[in-house]
Amino acid sequence: AVRALTRQDLAGERVLVTAGPTLEEIDPVRFISNHSSGKMGYSIARAARRRGAEVVLVAGPTCLDDPWGIETVHVCSAAEMRDAVMERVAASTVIVKAAAVADYRPKSRATGKIKKSADALVLELEKNPDILAEVGRMKGDRVLVGFAAETNDLVENARKKLTGKNLDLVVANDIGQAGAGFNVDTNIAKLLHRDGRVEELPLMGKDEMATIILDRAAGLRKQGMR
Ligand code: CTP
Ligand code: CA
Repeated sequence: AVRALTRQDLAGERVLVTAGPTLEEIDPVRFISNHSSGKMGYSIARAARRRGAEVVLVAGPTCLDDPWGIETVHVCSAAEMRDAVMERVAASTVIVKAAAVADYRPKSRATGKIKKSADALVLELEKNPDILAEVGRMKGDRVLVGFAAETNDLVENARKKLTGKNLDLVVANDIGQAGAGFNVDTNIAKLLHRDGRVEELPLMGKDEMATIILDRAAGLRKQGMR
C-alpha cells in the first residue's frame, strides 16, 4: 500500500549502495574500524527500493537489520567490500558509496592472539584500495555518488574528491558539527555538484537526506538519457 503512494521514479534503475564501516583484523581477537553506524547508506537503499529501483546493498558490520526486498551482501574488510562492489558495478546504473572504508589495514594479521609483553607496540599498516576511485575509472554513464567526511576545509576537500574520483555528486559532511555524521539519526551536509554548484542542506533526518540524494541521482540519470 505504501509503495503505491510512492512515485516509482527509479523503476528500471539498478542501484548499488555501500554502507557501514569496514573492519580490519589485527589478530583473531582485535580489529581496526570506525564509528560508522550504516544508517545513511541503509536509508538510501530503502528509499531507492521504495521508489522502484532494484537495489543491492553491500554492508560492512552494523547493528541494522537487512532491509526488506533488498539483496544485502555482508562484508568485513575493505578488500572484501572492494570485491563485492567490483563484481556488481557492470550491472548497476546508480552507485552510492556511503560506506566509511578503512584507509589502512594491518600489514599482516597475526594468526594467534598477540600477547601482552613490551610496554609499547607498533602496528604496521598498509593502504587499502580506494574502491570509489576504482569505480570512478569505469564510470561510463552510471551516476556515481560519493561521501566526504571532513573536520577541516569541508568544501575544498570534498571538491578534490569529486574531481579526483570522477564523481557526479559528493555528500560532504562536516563531522565536527553536532548532529552530523557518525552514529546519529540526523545529518548536515553540503551537496557538491560537478558543475560547481554547492547546495547547503539544513539539519535533517537521514531518511529525508536519502530522499534528496536520490532526487539528485534520478535527475542526473534523466539528464543522461536525453
Ligand atoms: N572510499 C572508498 N574506498 C576507500 C576510501 C574511501 O570507496 N578506501 C569512499 C568512501 O566510501 C566515500 C569516499 O570514498 O564515499 C570518501 O571517503 P573519505 O574517507 O571521506 O575520503 P578519502 O578519499 O578516504 O580521503 P581522506 O580519508 O584522507 O579524507
Ligand atoms: Ca578515508
